[in-house]
Order: sequence, then C-alpha cells, then structure tokens
Amino acid sequence: MDVDVVGRILSTLPDDDDHPYRTGPWRPQTTEWRADDLEVTGEIPADLDGIYLRNTENPVHPALERYHPFDGDGMVHVIGFRDGKAFYRNRFIRTDGFLAEAEAGKPLWAGIAERPSRSVREDGWGARGRMKDSSSTDIVVHAGVALTSFYQCGDLYRLDPLTLDTLGKSEWGGAFPYDFGVSAHTKVDPHTGELLFFNYGTAEPYMHFGVVGADDRLSRYVEVPLPGPRLPHDMAFTENYAILNDCPMFWEPELLAKGLYATRFHPELPLRLGVVSRRGGNEVRWFEAAPTYVLHWVNAYEDGDEIVLDGFFQGDPEPKDTGDGSYLQRMFRFLALDRMQTRLHRWRLNLVTGRCREESLTDSITEFGVLNNAHGGRRYRYAYAATGVEGWFLFDGLVRHDLVTGGEERFRLPAGVYGSEPAMAPRAGSAAEDDGYLITLTTDMNEDRSECLIFDASRVTDGPVARIRLPERVSSGTHATWAPGDSIPGWHKADSPATWAADAPIPGRRKANSPATSAAGDSVPGRRDADSPATSAVGDSVPGRREADSPATWATGDSIPAWREADSPDTVLRS
Ligand SMILES: [Fe+2]
Repeated sequence: MDVDVVGRILSTLPDDDDHPYRTGPWRPQTTEWRADDLEVTGEIPADLDGIYLRNTENPVHPALERYHPFDGDGMVHVIGFRDGKAFYRNRFIRTDGFLAEAEAGKPLWAGIAERPSRSVREDGWGARGRMKDSSSTDIVVHAGVALTSFYQCGDLYRLDPLTLDTLGKSEWGGAFPYDFGVSAHTKVDPHTGELLFFNYGTAEPYMHFGVVGADDRLSRYVEVPLPGPRLPHDMAFTENYAILNDCPMFWEPELLAKGLYATRFHPELPLRLGVVSRRGGNEVRWFEAAPTYVLHWVNAYEDGDEIVLDGFFQGDPEPKDTGDGSYLQRMFRFLALDRMQTRLHRWRLNLVTGRCREESLTDSITEFGVLNNAHGGRRYRYAYAATGVEGWFLFDGLVRHDLVTGGEERFRLPAGVYGSEPAMAPRAGSAAEDDGYLITLTTDMNEDRSECLIFDASRVTDGPVARIRLPERVSSGTHATWAPGDSIPGWHKADSPATWAADAPIPGRRKANSPATSAAGDSVPGRRDADSPATSAVGDSVPGRREADSPATWATGDSIPAWREADSPDTVLRS
C-alpha cells in the first residue's frame, strides 16, 4: 500500500473523552490520508468502475454543553475503483464553521441537543438558526462535483469527487436560496441530470421545492405552504413529480414561540404526502396516511394513476425511556432503529381519487435504504438496506429486499464490526437491475481497522468478494453514495484516476484560493500556532482550549446550566 499523510487537523477534544458517540466506533479521525494500490483480499472486479463516497461526523472540538452525533464536522471518504485497482482519500470539508472554529480553537455554535441561545456566534445556519453547518450528513454527485449537505438546512459544499478538495459552495448562478438553505437530502435524477431539493424553516411558507439543471443553474423554485414549521428530512421523486412530506412530528409551537425547540410526535395527526410537478404548475396535492415519521425514502415511481412511494415507516417515532442503559444511551434512543421500529413500507397515492393506500412490506427492521440509481424515480425491484445494533446508531449488516417476491437476502457482520450505509454500484455494461456490486466501509473494533467490502449485489448472503484495507479505522457516520466513472469528468482519460485527479478539469474548480491547499496545513488558521499538528490531541498547545467550559462536563447533565429547564433534552435530539 502506498500511503501518504496529507493533513492533520488540530483537535481540542479532551484526552479522557468517553462520550459513546465520540469514542469506540465513533472515534473521530484527525488525519487526512492519500492511499493508492490498496491491500486487497480477494479480487476487485474489473468491471467495478467509479467511486464510493461516504460522509462521516468527525468532531474537532467539544460541544459547548451536550454533544449530539450529528454535530460532528464533516469528513468525506472516497474509494475509487478502476481496472481492478482501488485508491482512497479522506478529507475534512472546509466549511465556514470548521474554519472559524479552527481560528478560534474552540466551539462557537450550539449543536442540535443544545439551545441556540448558547451559541457564541450570533450568526449561523439551520432551520432554527445559530447552528454550525457541519455539512456532515449526505453526499451526492451532481454535474461532476460532489455536494455535501447539513442535517437541517444549510449550504451545499462542492468537493472535487476524487481529491475531496473543498471547492466552495453551490451558488447556482446567484440563485441559491440562502434564506432557507437546502435540506439534508437532495436527489439527483440520473435520467435528466437534474438535482431536486427542498428546504424548510420557521418562516412562511415553511417549505420550498426546487430543481437545479444539469448546468448547475436553478430552474424551478416552488413554495410548499405548510400549517407551521415542520422537520422533514428526505424527499422522493418520480419521472414527473416530486413527493414532499408533512410528518406529524415537529417543534412544539408554544415552546417555539419562546425560542425553545422541543420535538413532539402527534399521533392524532396524519402523515401528509405532497405531490408537486417537477416541470410546471405550482399546485401541491396532499394525500393523507397513517401517522408516522419517515426519516428516509427509498424510491418512488409512477404506476398508471398511482404514485408508488417506498420508505421506512416508524412504528414508534417517539420511543419512551425504559430506564435501560446509561444516561447517554437512553438520551440517544431516538437513533436506534429497533427503538424507532423502522420497517420498509409502501404508500400508493392515487392521482385520480386523491386517496392513499398503504402497506407494510416486511416485518424486518431496516433503514438507510438504497437502490441501483439508474432506477431512481422509475419502477424498481431491489432495495438494499442496513440493519442496526439494538439500542445504538450502528449498522451490523446488510439486507437485499426483493420488493416483488418479498424475499430478503441478509449478511451479518461479525460482532464488533460495523458497516456504513451501502451503495449499489451497477457493473459497467450491466443490463439487469441487480447486476452489480454492493459496497460498504467497515469500522472493525476487533482488529482496529477499516475495510471496504465489495459484495455481489445479487448474492449478498455469500459475503464480500473483495476486502480492501484502509490506512486507518474510520468513524461510523451517516450517508454514502455511488458515482459511476462516466459521471466524473476526465475519469477515463488518464492512465490512473488516482494520479490525474490533482489536475483534472473539474468545473468550478478554483485552485488558487482553494481551502483545498490545506492538505499541507497552511490554510487552517491556527494550525501553525501549535508546536506540532501531531500534538493537537494533547490540548495544551491549542489556543482557547483551556478557556472553554470544561469539555468533560457534558456527560453529567446536572452540571450544565439550564439542563433541567424545559427544552426537553429527550426530544430535541432528532433532526
Ligand atoms: Fe438522512
């Protein structure tokens, strides 16, 4: 393996950190790597051609009071495959917040489990405001550039998909909706090259839907009026429609009026699904269904008069505290798939009658479903999803759902080994929907390492056909994506995609003043102030570290001012 360290980022996290989502499988990385000719067990298929991108939460500083795993700074991993070889890179996303906190040497914004009023900075991002846009939630590839996004609403950061250099932020020709931002999950329609998105906020009309063309220009922006502020996380699309949602779980209006953000599920209200045209007319048609919260949709397609919509129905969107486990384990019970009872579900929206029919597709608890993206918005048969460790936000296996037969193929990772959201990579030249590979990254606590696993997507249970060793154990995280080589400018022109990337003509690339040069460290403010980047974890050399509220006090609760006052810490945790 040919490995270089290309950057190290100063961390001010405490040496004795014991937060469960900043240690163990969630231990953040501070090193940026470039690795070629990776060590392989088995054989990388020669017809696997493209890149797997994964976003992770890697906190660099302690929380002001209470850390939530979604607050960590975004770090993207890319593993690329061509000609039976693989390369790997990982980089922090140089967000405005990341750079500002590097300059300050301490946290400046409150996270999702903290009051916005606690933020040091008056400005910020997010539907509720005064938050740091960590851009650590999702990643897609649009118009040849990787875009990372924030779990509430924020900017879209543009990354070179191969070097992971931060190129800047999406501007869409000056039409980017900075007042509302863009939500966690955007969708790329591979058939049109369009990027579909939505946003939400606390001001009327509370939601918008938009379309960005393959030319990276905003072509459509539609108001989606809601009864009040809502917390949608994902959307779906068909060939002609976008499907948005008004789930009956939202910030309590009375508390919101006082500046407090407490999320409550309202089982007396229906789930409302909004259908809006992708190309003309601003009418939103609403369909009512059984109350639930849906974190992620898998896909949607048109079937005669109906729109078929698949996603994960939560049987218990607001799981009760049973008193089991540690305080923090109970606090983060909303992240555990078994507690939320997430099951693949189908809604059929009849555009003629206005009625919605729905059915559960399985008894199995899975989430983070993906598909062969060539079938995005079109009829499809296979969904690939993750299974979760009981009580934790960790993935312990993969499932291929056959939506025609109801069959399920499973692969269970060994105890102590956790996977990432999978991505389906169609085999180059494939014709069948499941003719391809399933890819995931592991966090192996037994061997203290990470691997990329490649499965035959049609034979998941057989286990990986290849395992590729990464230079360092990576943190667990949220979302991932697959981008075929053909979607990346210049991919097939060079001898090796691993080496041409630095000079590749990526649209919008701004090499001169790019934060991407921070690989060498120069552009990270404060970096040169420390004796050595390698000592960053020790803390004393980090400006501001000793001035902050004791970073160790977050765990005890009682030591935190206002902890017991309203703003229920049990319910502010979901995003
Ligand atoms: Fe998500």
